[in-house]
Amino acid sequence: MDFLNQLKNDIEIVENWLAELAPKGGGYHSIIFESANYSISNGGKRIRPILAMEVCKLFDGNMENVKHYACALEFIHTYSLIHDDLPCMDNDDLRRGKPTNHKVYGDALAVLAGDGLLTYAFETVLKSPCNKNVEAGLCLAKLSGFDGMVGGQVIDIIGSTDKEMLIDLHRRKTGALISAGAYIGAISADAEEKDIDNVTQFAENLGLAFQIKDDLLDILGDEKTLGKPVGSDKDKQTFVDFYGIDRATEKLNEISEKAKDIISCYGNKSEFLIQLTDYLLNRNY
Ligand code: IPE
Ligand code: IPE
Ligand code: MG
Ligand code: MG
Ligand code: MG
Repeated sequence: MDFLNQLKNDIEIVENWLAELAPKGGGYHSIIFESANYSISNGGKRIRPILAMEVCKLFDGNMENVKHYACALEFIHTYSLIHDDLPCMDNDDLRRGKPTNHKVYGDALAVLAGDGLLTYAFETVLKSPCNKNVEAGLCLAKLSGFDGMVGGQVIDIIGSTDKEMLIDLHRRKTGALISAGAYIGAISADAEEKDIDNVTQFAENLGLAFQIKDDLLDILGDEKTLGKPVGSDKDKQTFVDFYGIDRATEKLNEISEKAKDIISCYGNKSEFLIQLTDYLLNRNY
């Protein structure tokens, strides 16, 4: 199967998993399920669960073992986007081509939908049939928490004063959850320690490149294709502010090459992840 068809196929599998494992319920508070599902079910690239799946495949793992972990990661990512769009954060009105969660449900329900999704992610991990729930839960907690994505969002809000701080910001706010994808994929396939380290390193570089591209798209992208506003980071220090468009693009290429180099040691089996890196480097959404 060629790369684009395989990607389409992977997205379909992830969409089915998410539909099956998404939070469901009724009661007087049923609006919160509607709010959470509004943000889960409205598309997105699904890059994190796909990475988990493909890394699991790389080490001949069983898809049933990675399914709950991959969905938990997408629930955490979705929560991070709902909160990121709030008026007290980036104050954005559009996400994945639709009004942001707080625009539809109000700030309070958006905060609560995010809280609920974060907690539910760990419930989902604990329901996994795989025997790696402790490792997966610990990884997701650490990489989404104070020293991971949340830490990155803090630096984003207070602003970075130099290039080192900016890279630390990118590694935390975006790299952390992307490397979590590779880690949970590898452990659910019972990969060896050296392979877990290797794919995690690959994903850390991929994550950094992913955020540099996101910063570039915030300037060069088009709102309709992106499905989110452009110029949203104009009051922040992004990669483009520190390096300029040309140098940021060079950095993006360098870091993507490094990622591909790291993963290429698996020969033919690395093909999808190498093409995924190129696809993300060249994306316009
Ligand atoms: C958006 O992530 C936030 C960043 C870390 C740049 P994605 O670009 O993966 O968003 P979706 O899930 O495809 O909407
Ligand atoms: C957000 O980064 C990363 C998160 C942890 C959600 P951005 O603020 O650049 O993401 P977008 O551009 O709104 O998707
Ligand atoms: Mg932000
Ligand atoms: Mg934002
Ligand atoms: Mg952005």
